[in-house]
Amino acid sequence: MTLEDVQREVDQLNRNARNATELMRDLVKLLHEKLLKYNWVGFYMLEPGAKPPMLVLGAYQGAMTPHTRIPLNQGICGAAASSGKTVVVDDVASDSRYLACSIETKSEIVVPLFAHSAVIGELDIDSHFPAAFGPEDRDLVEYCARVVGKRLEGSL
Ligand code: SME
Repeated sequence: MTLEDVQREVDQLNRNARNATELMRDLVKLLHEKLLKYNWVGFYMLEPGAKPPMLVLGAYQGAMTPHTRIPLNQGICGAAASSGKTVVVDDVASDSRYLACSIETKSEIVVPLFAHSAVIGELDIDSHFPAAFGPEDRDLVEYCARVVGKRLEGSL
């Protein structure tokens, strides 16, 4: 299945999902099932009103992770949420920010989710393959994050 095919399926899921929660659940399943190199796929959402701000694990597919709550000053996840920028790490072993989730993980992409121009969470994907996330993957994951952000805007 090509990344374009997956993008079409994302649109289909978006049309069929009754709300953002359902969409996020279906989306992690789709990406995890259809793309061989996407070995862990999950959302972290900013906890409303938390001080200091905290990312909390939401819908995910893949192995259980010890990182169910991540402060913004920790991990690749914290870096993406606090900067509001996509972070791609080709070799997690060489990035001192990395919080290990599985010893099999070699590379990671984290894309922030925006609603009304503010970061509200992120989509995190880990791969067992080094440098798994090229420009096309980045486009696809950023597309997914935009679709979810729009649905979440509707429910805020
Ligand atoms: N690796 C992430 C932590 C989350 S797990 O990958 C599921 C990080 O460095 O923030």
